[in-house]
Amino acid sequence: METVGKLFGVGVGPGDPELITVKAVRVIKEADIIFTAASTKNTYSLAVEIASPYISPSVQIEKLSFPMTKEIKESETAWIHNARQIAKVLKQGKKAVFLTLGDPTTYSTFGYILKKMKCIMPEAKIETIPGITSFHAASARLNRILVEGEESLLVTSGAFGGDRIRNIDGVENVAIVKAYKNIQDINKALKETGLAKKSVAVSKCGRENEQIIENINELENRAPDYWTLILASK
Ligand SMILES: C[S@@+](CC[C@H](N)C(=O)[O-])C[C@H]1O[C@@H](n2cnc3c(N)ncnc32)[C@H](O)[C@@H]1O
Repeated sequence: METVGKLFGVGVGPGDPELITVKAVRVIKEADIIFTAASTKNTYSLAVEIASPYISPSVQIEKLSFPMTKEIKESETAWIHNARQIAKVLKQGKKAVFLTLGDPTTYSTFGYILKKMKCIMPEAKIETIPGITSFHAASARLNRILVEGEESLLVTSGAFGGDRIRNIDGVENVAIVKAYKNIQDINKALKETGLAKKSVAVSKCGRENEQIIENINELENRAPDYWTLILASK
């Protein structure tokens, strides 16, 4: 009987190749094939670049296209197609690694793969290897405590603006990822909720051209940078 392989969802951290777990490094080194998400516009993968010190030169790297669209049907088709590609190699008994930036369970394309794999290949062996999230890397970079004592933390996307921030009650700390568009509304919401004073943005944390933006109003006059997050506190 053919041995079924295994899929590892591996987080490579936010950019600094040293911010990757020992376990992730071992799994990457042992991989038969590495999958990663690429946009339909180009095949560049930052996750592969970050993990490159640990990727064997002989390993096969497959970039899977994930369309950047709000069309759910188009996305579903891509997710199923990509999951089938992975299922095919698992059936050949291979160890497959799906690389993701930061942590694979946090706003990651691995989430879509995981759901589809469970449907199309329920017998597949899957292991998720956590990674350091962008907001943990940013709070460490700033020597800033993310949350303490009895406080709570909201982790949210800012892609659609500040409404998620407006609707929080009793939350003292917020980490906003995808804080690159609708920045005016995000800033407005931070002011309305008393979170603006202790807020800071970090772009490209741990990467070349990293920027720390102490005055988040400045974000309104800059070109939007997708790799930006905001940490804010009461
Ligand atoms: C699709 S989410 C991926 C989150 C990732 N899985 C994690 O665990 O942090 C992409 C968003 O994460 C944030 N991000 C990821 N890497 C970053 C970095 N090096 N510096 C600042 N923000 C980053 C940005 O807000 C970006 O818009």
